[in-house]
Amino acid sequence: MPVGTAREAYDDLAPDYDLLTADYPYERWLAALAALARSHGLEGRDVLDVACGTGKSFLPLLQRGWRVVGCDISSAMLGVAAAKAPGVRLVQADMRSLGRLGDFDLVTCLDDALNYVLQPRELEAALAGIRRNLRPRGVRARPDHGPRRRLPRLAWRDGVFARAGRAGAGDGGRLRSGR
Ligand SMILES: C[S@@+](CC[C@H](N)C(=O)[O-])C[C@H]1O[C@@H](n2cnc3c(N)ncnc32)[C@H](O)[C@@H]1O
Repeated sequence: MPVGTAREAYDDLAPDYDLLTADYPYERWLAALAALARSHGLEGRDVLDVACGTGKSFLPLLQRGWRVVGCDISSAMLGVAAAKAPGVRLVQADMRSLGRLGDFDLVTCLDDALNYVLQPRELEAALAGIRRNLRPRGVRARPDHGPRRRLPRLAWRDGVFARAGRAGAGDGGRLRSGR
């Protein structure tokens, strides 16, 4: 997908996104993801939601007392998120060139947002941006093209920490404790 296209598409979709995703089980996804991350050594409660969209992928954590920062390429999606979460810092940013927004214990990127990053080099840049925002012991994702590429089922299906590579190639990533 050419640069700019995802942003334009989501700027148009923003007013209807919550309706389109009304039956998505974010509560269940986030509860399971937090438990999964803790089982991989997560300790703190600072989370960066990359490609946060209208905020649906961070609101369950916010409501459980997490400190949240969200970023997304679409200003219209962020506008919807801001209306729901006025105290949350929201930043317009392209995950392929993600600067340092803070020190986070967990970085999430939900609902296939990484699928908009199609080139391996851009994916590496996105994962480097995620790593840049993690505390030394934060939970991060690492692309894994080797034989041990199996992700925890939940992370693979529902709350993707890393989904790498060429469309349909089945490349994956796995959770790692940052050191
Ligand atoms: C399917 S929505 C998911 C939104 C939110 N994470 C959720 O679960 O509801 C995909 C999001 O990815 C964002 N996005 C696409 N490409 C992006 C990029 N390069 N950098 C940052 N955000 C991007 C879109 O603007 C959109 O908000």
